[in-house]
Amino acid sequence: MPELTLVDGSGVRRDFPAKLTWQVIVCTVIAACGGLMFGYDIGISGSIKLKRNNYCKFSSQLLQLFTSSLYLAAIVGCFIGSICCKKRGRKPTMQIASVFFLGGAILNAAALNIGMLIAGRLCLGAGIGFGNQAVPLFISEIAPARYRGGLNLCFQLLITIGILTANVVNYATSKLHPYGWRISLGGAACPALLLLLGSVMIVETPTSLIERGKNEEGLHTLKKIRGVDNVDKEYEEISQAVEFSRQIKHPFKNLWKRSSRPQLVCGALIQIFQQFTGISVVMLYAPVLFQTMGLGENASLMSALMTNTVKPIGTLFAIFVVDRFGRRALLIEAAIQMFISLGAIGVILAVHLHSTNVVEKHYAVLVIVLVCVFLAGFAWSWGPLGWLIPSEIFPIETRSAGFSVAVIMNFVFTFLVAQTFLTMLCHLRAGTFFLYCAMLAVMCLFAKYFLPETKGVPIDEMVERVWKQHWFWKRCYKDHDTGEGGLDKPKDNTIA
Ligand code: BGC
Repeated sequence: MPELTLVDGSGVRRDFPAKLTWQVIVCTVIAACGGLMFGYDIGISGSIKLKRNNYCKFSSQLLQLFTSSLYLAAIVGCFIGSICCKKRGRKPTMQIASVFFLGGAILNAAALNIGMLIAGRLCLGAGIGFGNQAVPLFISEIAPARYRGGLNLCFQLLITIGILTANVVNYATSKLHPYGWRISLGGAACPALLLLLGSVMIVETPTSLIERGKNEEGLHTLKKIRGVDNVDKEYEEISQAVEFSRQIKHPFKNLWKRSSRPQLVCGALIQIFQQFTGISVVMLYAPVLFQTMGLGENASLMSALMTNTVKPIGTLFAIFVVDRFGRRALLIEAAIQMFISLGAIGVILAVHLHSTNVVEKHYAVLVIVLVCVFLAGFAWSWGPLGWLIPSEIFPIETRSAGFSVAVIMNFVFTFLVAQTFLTMLCHLRAGTFFLYCAMLAVMCLFAKYFLPETKGVPIDEMVERVWKQHWFWKRCYKDHDTGEGGLDKPKDNTIA
């Protein structure tokens, strides 16, 4: 496989000898099984059917709370997971994630009462918290800079495959009385086992090994995963970054310093914005909407299958282009695409769908097409990049803590959206879609003006080559040499 040549924004060529090895590919796929766990759970939790009028299909507080309880456990899991990631490494954190998830699946499948169901759900949440913290970080650290985007996006690819699998399993087991639900809940054990067994084979990231003083092993692993002997420059860079990070005793405290602000704001915002795309509204509401539109008995299954197939295809496309076109181009393009499709859905619903009426067939088909356009946009941009960008922008000293804040934002806002959107849909009706359109406009501007491009930049050079060069964020580093605003890396901490 080809050796990599890195070219920075100023056109200076930088060589980091590395091949895209099978080791990296296999480790990425195994770790991405954490995404399969997350996706399977989203898919299972999303299959809810209710009655009432067209906009108030499933407005049930209890149901909303049950669905969201997992996210509360995930928030705690992610916080503890970030400490575990730093102190014990990325690999054990993923293993803990799979054990929690496996436990949750077993508890749910064997549930004799509501208490066991809730306990199972809390375990699943903890597993997702640990997993979503460790997996994207792990992939971003083992990947050669030039392929980091594409490899990291495998996490989202497996999230979407997990959702699709859960839909199929749900459908197949819904007719098996009385144990069907036990099979579909217990099915969560499969991705957990894949991650647990697979993680025995994978390596720890060189960064994490060196961070924990295992320099020899770090160097050895770096040679193994890069497929070349000449890894001195990269090793040197990681060692310097780790050396510097040793001065930081409290990563979470350091996050609030001025020098961490650019990464913290962008990392957290991109995850918040991921949820403000309106993805949950579209995903949960689409099957009901299609059914309402008179598409027949199996409409809900058909639409679930169709929309959930569009997403993996969209993410697959992004895997091949994200390191070529860059992150920002995808985010900006998709925000416009999603704005138009969501706006059009809102208009059709406002004009044609009244509380209990059925929409004409050709509008129903148009809405399905628009939903697919929306989901494709999400799948190649704000979905996967919500995980990629926060995992690659923090320097080593705040990487685990900073990334956990971004992931926690994902859980908090998924929770908030889940808690509010059903009620919102019920009261604002089609207006809900226009509200998310307004958010998409803000997001487009954010990606254009405030988010720097990180494509191809080695993960430990982000501060020097990305943040300090950005027209807006460079102000956070202005007073650095005088000591204000927090610690900074030595100026020569780049590849020669
Ligand atoms: C998001 C989830 C979403 C899923 C859809 C994930 O990246 O975090 O909220 O449901 O993508 O594919």
